[in-house]
Amino acid sequence: MFTQINSVGLFGMNAFPVKVEINSVKGIPSFDIVGLADTSVQESKQRIISAMKNSGIETKSQTLVINLTPASVKKAGSSYDLAILTAVLAVQGEALTDVGKSAFFGEVSLGGGVNAVLGALTMAIEAGKNGIEKVFLPYENAAEASVVSGVSVYGVRNVSELYAHLRGEKLIAPQPPYTPSAAAYENLPDFSDVKGQENVKQALTIAAAGFHNMIMIGPPGTGKSMLAKRLPSVLPVMTFGESIETTQIHSIAGILDKNAPLVVNRPFRPVSHTASAAGLVGGSGVPRPGEISLAHNGVLFLDELPEFDRRTLETLRQPVENREIVISRATGSARYPCNFMLIAAMNPCPCGNFGHPAKQCVCSKLAVTRYLSKISQPVLDRIDIQIEVTPVSYNEISNDEKGLSSADIREKVEKARLIQETRFKGTNIRSNSEIPSALLGEVCVMDEAAREMIKNVFDKLGMSARAYDRVLKVARTAADLDKNEFINKKHVSMAISYRSLDRKYWSRS
Ligand SMILES: Nc1ncnc2c1ncn2[C@@H]1O[C@H](COP(=O)(O)OP(=O)(O)OP(=O)(O)O)[C@@H](O)[C@H]1O
Ligand SMILES: [Mg+2]
Ligand SMILES: [Zn+2]
Repeated sequence: MFTQINSVGLFGMNAFPVKVEINSVKGIPSFDIVGLADTSVQESKQRIISAMKNSGIETKSQTLVINLTPASVKKAGSSYDLAILTAVLAVQGEALTDVGKSAFFGEVSLGGGVNAVLGALTMAIEAGKNGIEKVFLPYENAAEASVVSGVSVYGVRNVSELYAHLRGEKLIAPQPPYTPSAAAYENLPDFSDVKGQENVKQALTIAAAGFHNMIMIGPPGTGKSMLAKRLPSVLPVMTFGESIETTQIHSIAGILDKNAPLVVNRPFRPVSHTASAAGLVGGSGVPRPGEISLAHNGVLFLDELPEFDRRTLETLRQPVENREIVISRATGSARYPCNFMLIAAMNPCPCGNFGHPAKQCVCSKLAVTRYLSKISQPVLDRIDIQIEVTPVSYNEISNDEKGLSSADIREKVEKARLIQETRFKGTNIRSNSEIPSALLGEVCVMDEAAREMIKNVFDKLGMSARAYDRVLKVARTAADLDKNEFINKKHVSMAISYRSLDRKYWSRS
């Protein structure tokens, strides 16, 4: 007897339909799996036989051959278990309902349970694309997969439950589609918690509005981490498509929060300088997403930037530019999106007190220069806004008045993003941070006073051509926040003030 059951395979973020074909003939009992299945798939046999026994399901003595098609694609992992088990049930002559337009995936345990798998959302999406109407998957993955439109999702707790459903004895209830409650959007840290620091908040607003990468330089305890953490709360609300993409990556990495099966808040991913290159950009055997992909559609925060290993930072160059990363390993290559905002923080010198209004810096001039020069130039080149964060005064910290809230700032940011959307319609540019040099003259038009100002400053500060380009882009965003068609003097002077690292280098050279 021959039959086939639908499943889905996954490599990186690439899902593909798999058919589990099964053939049984009378003869010596055996159980073979073919179709480029690696050892982890081969182990499925033991799990399935044991799970069936422990669920009180009879296993018939027969020669079973299972073929996973397309046979040309490598298959790994335990997620084919549920489809193989269903195929065995079907070929044993059981009259099963609900298998034709259904797909099955999930790991079966020896005791008969069904364990969660990584990447269930991506697999459910793929099933839907291939005309599948019902997906049977581990119960723990059901809420995550339920957001896929056009497929009904059935969360399976154990083999007995699936068996009863397929025999029409006791049906599993389909998972109701998950919709995030209002609470899912709340409880984000808010900018109104930060006293003073108005200039830093303004810089962060500009960064958020124009998708500019930013670095904050300041002594310990001035609130750099506190400020960075609040950036996601002022970025535009995630679209459903963005939520799905980020959830897919978090699911594949196994970091999806059970209580929040759909990511609706932009991620904030702090990375320590001890992170490995694989941890940062992704890697290991079957390429897993790294921090840059976990930060997709959100913020990647590099704290203590000068402490990072240069080579680790070098690996950021391509992905920052391309907004996706391809990780090649012996097992194949995986592609993950990584469209993130880069926010970095650092102390101004080894002791941290350089430039502090009250505390004394004990570092030698040479030590400060050496410290600053540790920052990788390729990374610095991709950061439009550099800002100094100074300690807040007693008056500010003791003031109980709440500052601008994140909701207020977000409203401005969203308006500025809309202006950019209109401006770049029909191009592949998404924000002011991506304006190519050739378009700067056309897009960043300054009024007379602004032009005069930048002309003076350019020579006086010995500004580089690259720094000039950045000033224009940032000034463009400042003008968009003001809904001004032309860049004025205020916008230019603000953008110039965001070159504090450059100034530090210049003043010391
Ligand atoms: N402007 C502020 N308003 C309210 N609280 C603040 C402010 N600045 C700092 N704090 C308080 O100080 C704590 C330390 O700030 P934070 O960790 O953000 O400093 P940091 O600049 O990142 O320091 P480090 O360089 O050591 O990493 C915060 O958790 C917060 O409680
Ligand atoms: Mg900090
Ligand atoms: Zn110092």
